[in-house]
Amino acid sequence: MSLLIKNIRLAETNLNQKTDIFIQNGKIMRIAPNLTYSADRIIDGSTFVAMPGLFDMHVHFRDPGQTHKEDIFTGCQAALAGGVTGVMCMPNTSPPVDSPEILTYIRKKAESSGVQVCPAACITKGMQGEELTNFAELKNAGAVCFSDDGKPVQNAELMRLALEQARQENMLIASHCEDLAIIHGGIMHKGSVSAELGVNGMDRVSEDYITAREIILAHSVHAKIHICHVSTKGSVEIIRQAKKFGIPVTCETAPHYFMFTHEKLRSRNANDRMNPPLREEEDRLAIEQAVLDGTIDCIVTDHAPHTQREKADFEHAPNGIVGLETSLAATLTALYHTGKCSLEKIISLMSSRPRELLNLPPVHIQENAPANFILVDIHHEWTVDPSALHGKSCNTAFRNQKLTGKVMFTITDGIIRYEYHA
Ligand code: DOR
Ligand code: ZN
Ligand code: ZN
Repeated sequence: MSLLIKNIRLAETNLNQKTDIFIQNGKIMRIAPNLTYSADRIIDGSTFVAMPGLFDMHVHFRDPGQTHKEDIFTGCQAALAGGVTGVMCMPNTSPPVDSPEILTYIRKKAESSGVQVCPAACITKGMQGEELTNFAELKNAGAVCFSDDGKPVQNAELMRLALEQARQENMLIASHCEDLAIIHGGIMHKGSVSAELGVNGMDRVSEDYITAREIILAHSVHAKIHICHVSTKGSVEIIRQAKKFGIPVTCETAPHYFMFTHEKLRSRNANDRMNPPLREEEDRLAIEQAVLDGTIDCIVTDHAPHTQREKADFEHAPNGIVGLETSLAATLTALYHTGKCSLEKIISLMSSRPRELLNLPPVHIQENAPANFILVDIHHEWTVDPSALHGKSCNTAFRNQKLTGKVMFTITDGIIRYEYHA
């Protein structure tokens, strides 16, 4: 299979110049203007920008155990439609990913997906927060990170031991920062809207407190720590200060935290409920600022598929929203088209930095590199239609949202894995 892309602009290098890319046998053979190779397919790239394939280091694929919500294949279909060519899938499946056998199952099932599926393994056995898993064994079986995401590790001493083990294995721990004693059953951000709706809220302090704890624990054992889905102004400020002190803390946020606030919950739609929850305008602004000033390292989705049936009940629905097919468009809309952020920075946030944090090889559009990139029409306007998504679930907070920027082609191993059809 060979592919010739004509008149394409490269987001990583020079946006003002158009060039051609020739791909053969999975590799980028040549990048230069006016190429004349014959190819199986020629794509007119003149209205697109080429970017390296994105990497989303926080998704939930529900496989094994809840494959009616998503499975590894459909999760990868959603990823490819969003320009995401690599993912880290979280281990809160049923059973949770705490053994080499489950890691092998995931990796085997993902083999022909066209997506680089990198599993995270549990910090604690069965994600019960009681006994650590064997990090060395899980690393050998292909785990790229450790996390009990979905649940915090409540016991600080156990977390400290986990961080020590992670340091020995040169692995990253990704922490879902939440103190369940402070949350006591909250279903959305604790504030004026939760009070008006008469539902229990989740106080920011729950997130801030465990963020601070993780940083202190990591510092004490000289380990790295990655803070998942940062959503509060406090948490972001704690991370900013820790970075200033030289503590190796990194973190991620998701587009919904810099685009929406708890005001959205007024319509009592459970598709706006996730954990951590949408916060207040001052948090939204703080998250946006932290993305722009480099305090936040990565943009992820926390793609968390749930059924329509579950999401029909505002108060009892499980937390989580899907996001793989809207993350780039949302980020372009909120940060690029508003003039706040360059495409280079977005590539760092959504592609290079997450790969770097997980010790994965970088992906660049250059000669002799594997062909792993996306063609994006950054000016294409569209409205998110949940029923048109490629995953199994449609629980998106971006329903009916107008976004600017659309992935037109996703190419991995030199193969067109996704192509947009109007
Ligand atoms: O909203 C969320 N959904 N937050 C989590 O921590 C877990 C996730 C899920 O697995 O549904
Ligand atoms: Zn989480
Ligand atoms: Zn998650």
